[in-house]
Amino acid sequence: MKSFFHVQDIGDLNLALEEARQVKATPYAWKHLGENKTIMLVFFNSSLRTRLSSQKAALNLGMSPIVLNIGQDSWQLETELGVIMDGGKSEHLREAIPVMASYCDIIGVRSFAGLTDREYDYQEAVLQQFVQYSGKPVISLESATVHPCQAFADLITIDEYKETKRPKVVLTWAPHPKALPQAVPNSFAEWMNAADVDFVITHPHGYELDPRFAGNARVEYDQMKALEGADFVYAKNWSCPGVTEPENYGKILCDDRSWMVDEAHMAVTNNARFMHCLPVRRNVIVSDGVIDSERSIVIPEAANRVTSIQVVMKRMLEDING
Ligand code: CP
Repeated sequence: MKSFFHVQDIGDLNLALEEARQVKATPYAWKHLGENKTIMLVFFNSSLRTRLSSQKAALNLGMSPIVLNIGQDSWQLETELGVIMDGGKSEHLREAIPVMASYCDIIGVRSFAGLTDREYDYQEAVLQQFVQYSGKPVISLESATVHPCQAFADLITIDEYKETKRPKVVLTWAPHPKALPQAVPNSFAEWMNAADVDFVITHPHGYELDPRFAGNARVEYDQMKALEGADFVYAKNWSCPGVTEPENYGKILCDDRSWMVDEAHMAVTNNARFMHCLPVRRNVIVSDGVIDSERSIVIPEAANRVTSIQVVMKRMLEDING
């Protein structure tokens, strides 16, 4: 595996899920793979789960992780090409990437969308520079448009908790005071479209996800109708993807608090499991009653972040070791 950005990169999902079960059951069984290998984990943005689960997975595989917080541990890095670097940024990615690559075997990168220039964000300009200039396998640890490690962990969690062969999974937009990227819902949609589930997306008008990710998923603008009979409710906020209104890209179009997932929403489901990638704002995205209920699986979902990225690292190490 040369890179991990999209669902296609993992190949057959049933095989990936079987491998995830094995990795979860015996996490130290492949410790020899990472001997004398190093993974560089580069963070342009904050993280709790991704930072810790990546390090834990690397250690499980016998690999040494190095974590770099850009701008705190390093120089401020310029990411745009062709700029006159007479401002606050001391070093360009063009030099920093090959230098970092010379110290490691695999690179993971977290670099959020700027939410001002849709074209720049949707080109994955930062991540693509890592691919181009590192010569090493690259993992998106949430980049401008995708969060594949989260989506794979979400799929593993749904597979573990499903009570029917083909569960109904509803991705519901929920309110948030800040404009958030579309990476999590994009990847969740992409992975659910590829999985054997009945997938429905619900959001207010104007929040349509990019068709590259939404695919042919059913979109239902009536949230309560979408939630009827759901086996899994996946709540997430995202800002305007700018599909129907490019001028609104990255903006908050709706602050209707009635979209918060509460007990009344869950009451119309098929006793659904509640999911969220975390971090989550309580009583904004989801009520205390729902997230604290025995149907909430946000903690096992987060725990599966170790398994998902460990499968990815394992495959990359198998390729490197030949
Ligand atoms: N879900 C997730 O990626 O969490 P962090 O932002 O804390 O890494």
